[in-house]
Amino acid sequence: MSSITLKSLSKQYSNEVKILDNINLHIQDKEFLVLLGPSGCGKSTLLRMIAGIEDISQGEVNIGDVCVNDVEPKDRGVAMVFQNYALYPHMTVYENMAYGLKIKKVKKSERERRIKAAADILQINPLLKRHPSQLSGGQKQRVAIGRAIVKEPNVFLMDEPLSNLDAKLRNEMRIEIKKLHERLNSTFIYVTHDQVEAVTLGDRIAIMADGKFRQIGTPLEIMNRPVDMFVANFISSPPINYLNAVLVKRQGQIYVDIEGVLMETQLPAERIPDNTEVIAGIRPEHCFITEDPNHSLAMKILFTEIIGTDVLLHLQFKTFNFIVKKSFDRTYTKGEEVRVGMSANHVNLFDKQTQTNLRCGQ
Ligand SMILES: Nc1ncnc2c1ncn2[C@@H]1O[C@H](COP(=O)(O)OP(=O)(O)OP(=O)(O)O)[C@@H](O)[C@H]1O
Ligand SMILES: [Mg+2]
Repeated sequence: MSSITLKSLSKQYSNEVKILDNINLHIQDKEFLVLLGPSGCGKSTLLRMIAGIEDISQGEVNIGDVCVNDVEPKDRGVAMVFQNYALYPHMTVYENMAYGLKIKKVKKSERERRIKAAADILQINPLLKRHPSQLSGGQKQRVAIGRAIVKEPNVFLMDEPLSNLDAKLRNEMRIEIKKLHERLNSTFIYVTHDQVEAVTLGDRIAIMADGKFRQIGTPLEIMNRPVDMFVANFISSPPINYLNAVLVKRQGQIYVDIEGVLMETQLPAERIPDNTEVIAGIRPEHCFITEDPNHSLAMKILFTEIIGTDVLLHLQFKTFNFIVKKSFDRTYTKGEEVRVGMSANHVNLFDKQTQTNLRCGQ
């Protein structure tokens, strides 16, 4: 069993603010959990505490049913892939992969078997005799993953393993890591600050800020119902659109009035006063161009950005910038007026003071 349970986990360097503050999380056996958050929010620290290479100030790390606070890193059944690969420069690829196994006193024949199997998976057989200085970034990264695989861990901890790679290799390796997870049947915790990686890889994503979790959920839950504007901003690329809006009561129902466009909300009428001002947030991919003059807003084209077979229409509405993402069907000229509709279920409504999402839980 390689579920992971973090109980009231905190980290504080002497006299300083808490780097991690009361972290609670249960990660299921074989789950792929992504930790996503801005630089400095505590992602690496959390991973290192699970690996056992960082002291715990308060709380517990449990792997399976066992509290591992006092278990040596090498005996935790975890393997970590570091952002900078941390390969030993004076050892060959083969020796790098063998080193952790030697320390664990794994027999030579067994070491050879495991290294061969990992090298086959990662297609690094021709590189086994080389030193790290003779490898490209992508090759080093494969070796770093290979060194983790040979340990046959129950838990893989990966700290931004793809961040040093160029865009093409990154895309390829992202798919490789997904396949690896399916093949190895282990629990993965994967740190990134890349939204696309988080959404494509994670069974669940935990969004962190300032040493705390802001939201934990499936990619779809987080994209469709971000708990607040911080999460909405962080998980949206291209950025989410915001417009001023007012909640109004009609026949006992709450509607949202976005600049004259009225939409149903299913918000509880008893708890929301008539004419409450809110901020409506809508992702570019949930907007569309329409001819319908009644349920749409007139906007002007500022410029367009073609992304493969899609186009981003950068628009102006009053003093706001607005983006619509759609399939690339025709050219749009600067200054042209288009009408923009929004999918009602995908409009999120944020409290003006607290910035929390009133539609969370729907
Ligand atoms: N030895 C230390 N003493 C004091 N503060 C530290 C120490 N190590 C890390 N920190 C602080 O802890 C916080 C969290 O660092 P951490 O490396 O976990 O962030 P991160 O989320 O991984 O960031 P990044 O995305 O940049 O890698 C940062 O504010 C960092 O400055
Ligand atoms: Mg880090």
